[in-house]
Amino acid sequence: MDFPSTFDARGLRLRPYRDSDVPVLVANGNDPDTVRFMSGTPGVATAETMRALLASAASRARQNPDRLGYAVADPDGDELLAGAVVHLTRRRSSAELGFWVAPAARGRGVATTLARALTELCFARGLHRVELFIRDENVRSQRVALAAGFRREGELRAVLPGAGTERHAAALWSRLPTDDAPTPRRLPDLPNGELTDTMVTLRPVGPDDVAALAALHGHTPVGAPGALQDRDDLARHCARAPARWLAGERADVLVVGAAGQVAAELTLEYQAPGAGRAELRAVLAPGGPAAALATRGVELLARWAFGIGVELLVATEAPQDARLRGVLTQARFGRQELFAARDDGRRLTGGLRADRAWSASAVHAG
Ligand SMILES: CC(C)(COP(=O)(O)OP(=O)(O)OC[C@H]1O[C@@H](n2cnc3c(N)ncnc32)[C@H](O)[C@@H]1OP(=O)(O)O)[C@@H](O)C(=O)NCCC(=O)NCCS
Repeated sequence: MDFPSTFDARGLRLRPYRDSDVPVLVANGNDPDTVRFMSGTPGVATAETMRALLASAASRARQNPDRLGYAVADPDGDELLAGAVVHLTRRRSSAELGFWVAPAARGRGVATTLARALTELCFARGLHRVELFIRDENVRSQRVALAAGFRREGELRAVLPGAGTERHAAALWSRLPTDDAPTPRRLPDLPNGELTDTMVTLRPVGPDDVAALAALHGHTPVGAPGALQDRDDLARHCARAPARWLAGERADVLVVGAAGQVAAELTLEYQAPGAGRAELRAVLAPGGPAAALATRGVELLARWAFGIGVELLVATEAPQDARLRGVLTQARFGRQELFAARDDGRRLTGGLRADRAWSASAVHAG
């Protein structure tokens, strides 16, 4: 299983590093995202440290033929655009890829092209599986993985080295030769990143929303479905929300009024993806106007969900939560008592069938 040391693929040239690459390596080595997400990046890069790194990488490569490092350049001017490494695990007939793109070359598809080119090379050499390890916070890298046909398989604890003795969890992504690219998504992005009916806008929850959510969740009764009172739990929830969306597990959105006020957080979580069944949860801000905005938000989210293949949307309510019940009723959820016997006191409030719920012949279950 020989891998070439230099080759052209998909408009990129993969070759050994050379001294003229050092300025780009320094810029990349000082880039905050590279420092954060590439294991073993020292944090402060100079021309000397980068030359030393290249020398030690070259000597490690001589000792370890299963570690293949590539400089990735523009074939026209030979300018360094990116770096990649392929780690072969011959006994499993698999390879792990690692890559970075120079800050000045980001956002124009270099990583996606590179991931595809290296994966194709691995399959052409007879490998059966190519893997990526990606931290949940690294949203761009997960987008690269999806665009290059990788699927998320699950989370591995303490798998990536961090600073000092720190270890990070990461998701394992893989692509097999039979997988299509891009990977189909059960939860696509919202059109233009949001849903809006001019009165309210729904936008995905992200790492910057901790303060907004702390205010919102602080009003919610302890124990209510979806409520998070602990600040660390909230921060983790916000940090992981984009990854859960990309993984097709759940979509978390903020309902924001025209004046910028946050009226609710809504969560759509697949319960049985193949069966098209999803659960809707809502955490509401206090007051009637917030409930009215949340109702619009629920309607927008439900319509979007039915458009992407959800067939049944259910919501549970705490028996004492009359406001949520009002929102669901206003949003045309029908009441059901299917889970009335559940011993946690929660009951199924409603369900709608996608094919009829938003048509003239809407039939509300229950
Ligand atoms: C992650 C990284 C390799 C992506 O490189 P890139 O060449 O910019 O990626 P691409 O241009 O192929 O874009 C990949 C995706 O990120 C999206 N993206 C690009 N720039 C973005 C930005 N500023 N904000 C959010 N998303 C962005 C693109 O839209 C694309 O997603 P899409 O296919 O859904 O549209 C690069 O940011 C990087 O080197 N980061 C630091 C090191 C690192 O994280 N390495 C990977 C470790 S697993």
